[in-house]
Amino acid sequence: MFQINENYLKLQGSYLFSSIAAKIRAYTELHPDKKIIRLGIGDVTLPLAPAVISALHDAVDEMAVQETFHGYAPDLGYEFLRSAICTNDFRSRGADITVDEIFISDGAKSDSGNIGDIFSVNNRVAICDPVYPVYLDSNVMDGRAGDYVPETERYSRVIYMPCTEYNGFVPDLPKEQPDMIYLCFPNNPTGMTISKADLQKWVDYAREVGAVIIYDAAYEAYITEKGVAHTIYECDGAKECAIELRSFSKNAGFTGTRLGYTVVPKQLKCGDVSLNALWARRHGTKFNGTAYIVQRAGEAVYSEAGKKETAAQVAYYMRNASYIRTSLLDAGYTVYGGVNAPYIWLKTPHGMTSWEFFDYLLEGANVVGTPGSGFGPSGEGFFRLTAFGSYENTKEAVERICRM
Ligand SMILES: Cc1ncc(COP(=O)(O)O)c(C=O)c1O
Repeated sequence: MFQINENYLKLQGSYLFSSIAAKIRAYTELHPDKKIIRLGIGDVTLPLAPAVISALHDAVDEMAVQETFHGYAPDLGYEFLRSAICTNDFRSRGADITVDEIFISDGAKSDSGNIGDIFSVNNRVAICDPVYPVYLDSNVMDGRAGDYVPETERYSRVIYMPCTEYNGFVPDLPKEQPDMIYLCFPNNPTGMTISKADLQKWVDYAREVGAVIIYDAAYEAYITEKGVAHTIYECDGAKECAIELRSFSKNAGFTGTRLGYTVVPKQLKCGDVSLNALWARRHGTKFNGTAYIVQRAGEAVYSEAGKKETAAQVAYYMRNASYIRTSLLDAGYTVYGGVNAPYIWLKTPHGMTSWEFFDYLLEGANVVGTPGSGFGPSGEGFFRLTAFGSYENTKEAVERICRM
């Protein structure tokens, strides 16, 4: 009889979004006349930028003609896109990344889940708490997490790094020594970020203990403050210890179009073994390339018009973020995030749990957000609101919350 990967049985049910959906369903059945505003899910709402749409149309037309038709894309991505990324996302920031260190993919979720393929299951993994759930669950699947301990709500082999009000939502260096460290800045779900100086401390630490950093910079485009690194490769020595994950989802609205990339520097080695070569092998074996038309759309994000249009979209969402943040602060709430990220991390008032506040908001304001406890034990007592809605809905939702 065949056997399954029993690590999957250790996964804890992800009830977060299904529980939210069930609660909304139940409420709407009882109150069909109420208009519910959703500030819960981290999906964009604005349409693709005109420059991107135009590139998509052109690429589709190319596919209709024998001479310009494209079959399988190169495994690692088309040169035109890798080179636009290299120039605009790295060279322009003084980061010495080369084209052959960039691997095009269908998004940061797949890459953050798959990157574990090139690492030993014996590695100890450190993750932030609260956290984007993919880092944890993919390590559970791979067998790196140990057993789930219900009393502590934690896995036995994972090193949890609490991100709380006390450390400004930037993790302290762990007491136990990790082999793989997952960092995400600007952060989902807390909406907070790390200064370049503090990120440098992580790079120095990783090099000292021989750990690799998996750095998720999916929200890089939302950075507004000076002194925040747009890529980990702005830090000295990062090419020797860090892999960076990037996405076109939040900077250019590609959540439904699917495009991302991963940077694996050639200097990053385990003994004599180059991780760049391992990831190239993994990518070439298990992935057959991102669609030509999507890569052309990605290239258009870096055109003059594309840059302008996508920056305007980010600004639109950040206007929402700022509105949520300042209005809730004025109303007496304790609020974090929303300055360098499209997420607001709200402290629940009067000691309510995250789920109690969810019910309070749903019933009292007909507004839906995401309970912080769904992102990890240290998220209890917090609540995430996203800035990805329309300005009108966001304004109305916030006014309702403030009136409560
Ligand atoms: C931190 C983080 N990384 C990655 C992703 C997924 O990105 P993509 O759409 O490129 O798969 C998300 C999506 O919400 C995210 O919040």
